[in-house]
Amino acid sequence: MAKFYITTPIYYINAVPHIGHAYTTVVADVLARWHRLRGDEVFFLTGLDENSVKTVEAAGEQDFEDIQAYADSMAEMWVGAWRLFNISYDDFIRTTQERHSRNVREFFKRIQGREDIYKGTYEGLYCEGCEAYVTEDELVDGKCPLHQREPKLIKEENYFFKLSKYRDRILKHIEANPGFIQPEARRNEVLSFLRRGLKDVSISRPGLEWGIKVPGDSTQTVWVWFDALINYMLPRDYWPADAHLIAKDILRFHCVVWPGMLLSAGYELPRQIFAHGFLTVNGQKISKSLGNVIDPAYLIEKYSADVVRYFLIREVSFGQDGDFSEEKLRTRLNDELADVLGNFVHRVLTFIQTRFGGKVPGGKIDEELEAELCGRVEEIEKLLDDLEVTQALERIIAIAGRGNEYFQSHRPWEAVKSGPPKAADCLLNCINIVKTLCVTLQPFMPSTCEKLAEQLNLRITSWGQAKKFDIKAGHPVQKPVILFKKLQTQNPSRQEGLVSIEDFNKLDIRIGNVVNAESIPGSKKLLKLEVELAGERRVAVAGVAEHYPPKELIGKQVVVVVNLEPVRLAGIKSECMLLAAVDGMKISLLSVDKPVKLGTKVE
Ligand code: MSP
Repeated sequence: MAKFYITTPIYYINAVPHIGHAYTTVVADVLARWHRLRGDEVFFLTGLDENSVKTVEAAGEQDFEDIQAYADSMAEMWVGAWRLFNISYDDFIRTTQERHSRNVREFFKRIQGREDIYKGTYEGLYCEGCEAYVTEDELVDGKCPLHQREPKLIKEENYFFKLSKYRDRILKHIEANPGFIQPEARRNEVLSFLRRGLKDVSISRPGLEWGIKVPGDSTQTVWVWFDALINYMLPRDYWPADAHLIAKDILRFHCVVWPGMLLSAGYELPRQIFAHGFLTVNGQKISKSLGNVIDPAYLIEKYSADVVRYFLIREVSFGQDGDFSEEKLRTRLNDELADVLGNFVHRVLTFIQTRFGGKVPGGKIDEELEAELCGRVEEIEKLLDDLEVTQALERIIAIAGRGNEYFQSHRPWEAVKSGPPKAADCLLNCINIVKTLCVTLQPFMPSTCEKLAEQLNLRITSWGQAKKFDIKAGHPVQKPVILFKKLQTQNPSRQEGLVSIEDFNKLDIRIGNVVNAESIPGSKKLLKLEVELAGERRVAVAGVAEHYPPKELIGKQVVVVVNLEPVRLAGIKSECMLLAAVDGMKISLLSVDKPVKLGTKVE
């Protein structure tokens, strides 16, 4: 049994996951599921990078005094998001866990033992977005181009790691192993960076409360990247990792710093680091300030996890940059999932139901077709081995296209009239194509394939099942259930940035009455309010404490959005949102001009 250990980056917890994070995680999941289906011994690790200054800042912004409590609440959200996406990780690491801190301390001591750590003074710029030191020439208009943040000028005592000592060995390793960094363009980027020379890196910072302390020196905290990379060593028995999936933003940490650390500590290097491109949304960088962060939960609710998984992988060639839009998602759903895949499966199952009483008819296996399909499946295997997930998925959909063509050209509906054997041959072969689809799609769309396997009355347990036409005559199949519903695509002439009336109407805005208002211990900004609507009360955690004394709010008619997803603020579940005008530092709650019945809808 081959071993396959795959990782995603561990994500920062200053925000909730967006589709960019989902992208890496879904691809890792597809590869993990594929290797499992193939019979490999898989370990799939993902998790969270919690020991960052960003965590402390975000906890402060959200009024959490206890940073660990903030981290715990964020971890719940990330785990929840991955559950929605059906992510089959084997372990979920959080860098605040003791099992991780222990590994970091051990690692630190190990390279200290190699005399690769020394104390020095660092003077230069630090970008808190990157959590890394930056140089003048990396800035654009004085700001870090990735985070649009001005770096801080820092002069402090740090522990340094002798990374420069390992430059030649890292360089040689990359040159000798073309597959080590993929795709090619990223490999070249790292090579030219290394050829320009390599400096030592500072691996600790003084005066940070949050984070892992340097062994033997509690005045210094381990640099968050040094700490985070070590997460990959968690399943020690599986080391080295077979694939580290990352995006191009964190290439150098993974392809230069991490190999240097491993060489120093005397561990093997990972087999491959694959850096994919960046997703934009409607052509723009995903960012909170642009307001284009799409909540994956919203997409899943609307389209299902499998459709989103399909789209993420299919739309953007893995390795390239790409764009996300719901419009494009709907087009793929309609044109490929519904029209090609869904249509083929449905017509085959319907035909067997209506013309052959729900049992696969006896007939002749088309050996040429079986061999063709086996060849196609082998090609898909090769693509998946090379992490070419987009091409693999495209080839799978092409199998459904081939099925439709086969069905169409054999015209079984006519053959049934002129002589059933020909129709039976056609259907026997088609149902076997459906099975090939059910197996090959399983890593990509696990829930859909589970449903489909039920309809086929089959258990899918191994990838090899995709290569044989072994469904026999008499095998009963279920009535078909529609796998993908078509959705309307938008009017393409709509102007960018405008919202349709249907979208506006999705907001449920009501008039309510504040019946209770109290401050939240430990929070300067938030108040806990109870709002009475028609026959129900809801809790709203509102950031108005500095603008309204609680008493003043009681009895006030307010305008609330009642169908927003609940969020936890300062540990309290907020079930609706009050609308307010925010004029710089001034906040004025919206109200109505004449009193109206509680629960009245705002239209
Ligand atoms: N915590 C570090 C990683 C430490 S790994 C030892 C970090 N975290 S992050 O939350 O910023 O996540 C970065 C990763 O998220 C990217 O490498 C990529 O996998 C994913 N993505 C975040 N935004 C993305 C896009 N817009 N597009 C594609 N992937 C993106 O860096």
